[in-house]
Amino acid sequence: MTAWSRPRINHLGRDVSARIPPRDTVPGMVWLGERDEAIWRLAASYLTVRDNDAHSLYSYGIARALLSQVPEADERIVLPAILLHDTGWSTVDEQDALEAIAPGGGRPDLVLQHEREGARIAREILNAVDVPTADIDIIVEIIDGHDSRTTSLSINDSVVKDADKLWRVSPHGRAVVCDWFGLDDDEALRLCAYRAYDELFTDAGRAMSRALVALGSMQLSPQMASVYRREESQ
Ligand SMILES: [Fe+2]
Ligand SMILES: [Fe+2]
Repeated sequence: MTAWSRPRINHLGRDVSARIPPRDTVPGMVWLGERDEAIWRLAASYLTVRDNDAHSLYSYGIARALLSQVPEADERIVLPAILLHDTGWSTVDEQDALEAIAPGGGRPDLVLQHEREGARIAREILNAVDVPTADIDIIVEIIDGHDSRTTSLSINDSVVKDADKLWRVSPHGRAVVCDWFGLDDDEALRLCAYRAYDELFTDAGRAMSRALVALGSMQLSPQMASVYRREESQ
């Protein structure tokens, strides 16, 4: 099932679909290529805990956008790493995992466990899809420590870290955080924006964060609320 659907209304009243550009000519549209599709097929069953599958796909999209702005980073390292980075949460009890990532969370041991186990699972999957051993070593090193390590090993590590953290301020990230911690939309935006920005490593990541947080702020502004009230009363 896809997340989009056909429209129910056409105010213009005629078909403009012949003017819609092909997907591969549109700057910024991304999808999983053959290698990443193969990795995803093996990774998905390890990502069913706590929306980690959707988190990983959104972070993959963010990583692709960052790669377009950070040409020194290597997609052969960054993209497998972002797809696989959280597979290790599959080895942690779901409730315990929430405690580990909660504000002021008290289970740093579980953060380390998901990194270590994720590195192990990633190595198995990358071996299975014939990624070169030298690349596997680099990818696994990035995954092992991706949350607990506050410094970056390389530009590839920086892009992976930024893609992971930027998800927090995406619409999906904010919605998931609401449910995790019982927050309203505004509280979730403030928590996610505050936690994400200072941890970013790239200028492109900081610019993306500012844009996403600004959009979220406008979405939750009293002025936007009155726009929606006007539309509902029409
Ligand atoms: Fe993680
Ligand atoms: Fe993550």
